[in-house]
Amino acid sequence: MTDPATGRPTVVVTGAGRGLGEAMARRAAADGYRVVVAELNEEWGSRTAAEIREAGGAAEFVALDVADPASVEALAARVAPGGPVYGLVNNAALANGVGGREFQDIDVEAWDRLMAVNARGPWLVAKHLLPLMSDPGRIVNIASDAALYGSPRLAHYIASKGAVVALTRAMARELGERGITVNAVAPGLTEVEATETVPAERHALYAANRAIPRPQRPDDLVGLVSFLLDEESRYLTGQVVAVNGGFTMH
Ligand SMILES: NC(=O)c1ccc[n+]([C@@H]2O[C@H](COP(=O)([O-])OP(=O)(O)OC[C@H]3O[C@@H](n4cnc5c(N)ncnc54)[C@H](O)[C@@H]3O)[C@@H](O)[C@H]2O)c1
Repeated sequence: MTDPATGRPTVVVTGAGRGLGEAMARRAAADGYRVVVAELNEEWGSRTAAEIREAGGAAEFVALDVADPASVEALAARVAPGGPVYGLVNNAALANGVGGREFQDIDVEAWDRLMAVNARGPWLVAKHLLPLMSDPGRIVNIASDAALYGSPRLAHYIASKGAVVALTRAMARELGERGITVNAVAPGLTEVEATETVPAERHALYAANRAIPRPQRPDDLVGLVSFLLDEESRYLTGQVVAVNGGFTMH
């Protein structure tokens, strides 16, 4: 599970070019992993990897479109020579500019695109990285508390994140014997670039209903992901943890 070149276990973080993925990649590097920044946007992905290296961490950028099977296969081929993969954080998603329509007004193309990236993507990446994964191994799927709350005017996004939750449970049952844990993290509405365009009414809904009455920041999430990647989380699998200041409780 350790990369022969760096001596560090490899963790692949998808969509790590910016936002929550970038924060998780930085934390994983600080925790001592060699991080593969697997990202659609080349500029953002290479910048994240370069900044991690400048800070003394081990990181490399690999171009990835989680919706494209050939691209996911190419990721596995790129990662394989670096030795076994210890961790996978399935974070990439279309999360920005997707809301605003009631479910009956969402068109089929938008629905299919969201499903291809957000629901099929995590499955496809796990499918192709699984042959490389070590025992123990860790998979963390990034869902959303919108799927737990049932946020309106986001039906295709919510359905895709509900699929991520269900996939997490199925994978956890199938991978337990292999020493691989699979958990989902459901963030709340977090202050990142992607949510700058979220309507004020949704920000107000969160502001009024969090148990911890302050905005959520990326740093509020990375500690849990760090724990879920850590060896110490070995007996925790198939779970969905909402990190949202208590906006949802279940
Ligand atoms: N920010 C929030 O409030 C919030 C809340 C709940 C869940 N989430 C989830 O957290 C994750 C990160 O969200 P974010 O807010 O940082 O959004 P973001 O848009 O800033 O980040 C998503 C990243 O994924 C990349 N990406 C998009 N499509 C891709 C593809 N096909 N292949 C590879 N990479 C792709 C983007 O380029 C981007 O870097 C997502 O799964 C999102 O659904 C975010």
